[in-house]
Amino acid sequence: MKNYLVTGGAGFIGSNFIHYMLKKYSDIKIINVDKLTYAGNLENLTAIENSENYEFVHADICDKDAISAIFEKHNIDYVVNFAAESHVDRSIKSPEIFIETNVEGTVNLLNIAKTFWATGDDVYKEGCKFLQVSTDEVYGSLGQTGYFMETTPLNPHSPYSASKAGADMVVKAYFDTFKFPINITRCSNNYGPYQFPEKLIPLIINNTLNHNDLPVYGDGMNIRDWLYVEDHCKAIDMVINNGKLGEVYNVGGHNERTNITIVKTIINHIKEHVDSSVSETLIKYVKDRKGHDKRYGIDPEKIRKELGWSPETTFEVGIKKTIDWYLNNKAWMENVTSGQYKEYYKKMYGEK
Ligand code: NAD
Ligand code: DAU
Repeated sequence: MKNYLVTGGAGFIGSNFIHYMLKKYSDIKIINVDKLTYAGNLENLTAIENSENYEFVHADICDKDAISAIFEKHNIDYVVNFAAESHVDRSIKSPEIFIETNVEGTVNLLNIAKTFWATGDDVYKEGCKFLQVSTDEVYGSLGQTGYFMETTPLNPHSPYSASKAGADMVVKAYFDTFKFPINITRCSNNYGPYQFPEKLIPLIINNTLNHNDLPVYGDGMNIRDWLYVEDHCKAIDMVINNGKLGEVYNVGGHNERTNITIVKTIINHIKEHVDSSVSETLIKYVKDRKGHDKRYGIDPEKIRKELGWSPETTFEVGIKKTIDWYLNNKAWMENVTSGQYKEYYKKMYGEK
């Protein structure tokens, strides 16, 4: 029985990861620690919330006592650190919380895991690992050609990506200084179920369904490299099990699209299958994001060669599945956008 401490498991990727892992393994236990910020939603986990292989702890990763208490109570084998402030636009308005959660929170988790896992000087409990879930944004922005490799120098541009790069460097420093067992994954843009509708794909789906404006930043020609969230979860599982200690693994599936292509794909799908009255007239070009990175593109060769990872869901299939999921889960979207999930939390777990 392996025990996983998953942080930020009530968010988009964390909740998908918990579903993925509990479906795949019956001999694991997952402790999900989440602060339940605006982005954390326990409704994402209703299907497994009563599983005996799952426990939720409402806490901040910066809280030393609360995190130590989890290590005292559970014999943790792996930390998978998803918890973060994750939205670039919010980081431009309020950078401080990004440094607090993304950097200080990560350092707190590292220190506590290191204390509890130490069995000697720079020796740790057998098989334990700290996996830092990072992002391709730490590499900065690409021109028209080339890809981000693990050896690409870090060159973040937003307060969000700078905070993630800062955390990555501390995680790597714990390996170099203390031989502390770590891996870092750097994934491209994810899409799929349970994504908070401030991010491009769920925002555009929701707004199209409601005939609201579709805000496209700048000229819409910025490029992102999209990966279906389950393929990211599969990669994280593989890195936990077989990643070489101290290594970084880039994760991406060569699915580059301009933002305007994404927006038009969503409109066309909804027009064809759901509501023939929607059209591209909903598109509104708006002021560009400050410091807007032009292009992201991952070279996933290392994880493919070393660990045998490859994505299973093509963009064409993934985007249809995603639109259908939001269509079939309108109540989820309504709850998220109206703040009802906070009421849900109070009902399930009481005031805190
Ligand atoms: P998200 O914003 O949907 O979820 C973040 C979760 O962390 C929420 O449940 C939130 O309540 C929780 N959280 C925030 N601050 C916390 C704190 N101080 N203590 C405990 N919990 C806290 O984010 P996401 O899109 O699921 O991203 C998860 C991770 O993956 C992040 O580290 C992000 O940098 C990384 N990542 C995201 C993408 C993407 O496309 N979304 C791509 C690559 C990497
Ligand atoms: O690359 C991985 C990163 O992807 C993650 O590390 C981040 O946590 C995640 O939020 C995401 O960052 P982006 O900034 O790429 O995602 P976002 O959905 O905010 O924007 C995607 C692109 O769409 C980007 O070029 C900005 C643009 N955009 C976004 C919004 C919200 C618009 O044109 N209009 C919008 O309304």
